[in-house]
Amino acid sequence: MNFVDTGTAARFEGRVAVVTGGGSGIGEATVRRLAAEGAHVVIVDSNAPAGNRVADAVNDGKVPGTAEAVELDITDWPAVQAAASDISTRHDRLDVLVNCAGIGAFGTVAEVAFDDWKRTLDVTLNGVFHCSRAFVPEMVRRGGGAIVNIGSTAGLRGDYGLPAYNAAKGAVVNLSRSMAIDHIRDGIRVNCVCPGIVETPQSEKLRRIDGYWDAIIEQYPTRRALEPGEVAAVVLFLASDDASGMVGATVLVDGGLSSWTGQPERPPAPAALTGS
Ligand SMILES: NC(=O)c1ccc[n+]([C@@H]2O[C@H](COP(=O)([O-])OP(=O)(O)OC[C@H]3O[C@@H](n4cnc5c(N)ncnc54)[C@H](O)[C@@H]3O)[C@@H](O)[C@H]2O)c1
Repeated sequence: MNFVDTGTAARFEGRVAVVTGGGSGIGEATVRRLAAEGAHVVIVDSNAPAGNRVADAVNDGKVPGTAEAVELDITDWPAVQAAASDISTRHDRLDVLVNCAGIGAFGTVAEVAFDDWKRTLDVTLNGVFHCSRAFVPEMVRRGGGAIVNIGSTAGLRGDYGLPAYNAAKGAVVNLSRSMAIDHIRDGIRVNCVCPGIVETPQSEKLRRIDGYWDAIIEQYPTRRALEPGEVAAVVLFLASDDASGMVGATVLVDGGLSSWTGQPERPPAPAALTGS
């Protein structure tokens, strides 16, 4: 059974949240859910039309919250710093930061282009660093808040032909723990969500490789990809006061992928191997 979006609670009323990569996929679902629960959401995305599209959809008056889009490349440190200062000054508070924007690059270490390697680390890891570096002092000044970093199951184990992404996400997972213990006494809770395969424009590219999507889905005990809203629901929980006891957690939203040893399903056993 798929997730049903109730959107009835209002855990974020009066709060200001920043979501990087909020113009698409998991980020978009997070923006929509935060606004459904009353937040004002700042959508940070390098793709301006994507950010504007989501902001316009949120601002149609059907949800209690509101949104604005800020065009920003999270690899550009001076620009991130300026945006953080502007956002927290204009709103005079900053309660939630969701570091969601991330990209991948295909190819083993012998194959991947050095520029693709660097760009993957720059967006997926350094982007989290830049935004955290810029927004943490603003959060502290305004009494604390919650940060949720989006890792991946790819940050916990290796994938064939994906070392740049594996390295970047592995770093995000451990960076989250480090940030969590450094800043909990500043009143900032940091946690990390690690999704398995999610139906988004990013994963859509995998469908273009013949048979690959079906092969991926076959690995999941659920035999389906996750929906962005299923990940966003967990992000909201961690960002909310409901998760006040969660600090530095790595939370898997992976449809059971990592619970499986990799052994195949057992066919019906011959009588000699069953019973006493
Ligand atoms: N889709 C999956 O299967 C999956 C699984 C695990 C983890 N993730 C992670 O979840 C996050 C979101 O993935 P998604 O599938 O929703 O991706 P997506 O491609 O649908 O959305 C990513 C958004 O980030 C924005 N972005 C990219 N580079 C940026 C930059 N430099 N500055 C600002 N914005 C930038 C894009 O414009 C886009 O709107 C990523 O970190 C991804 O690695 C995705």
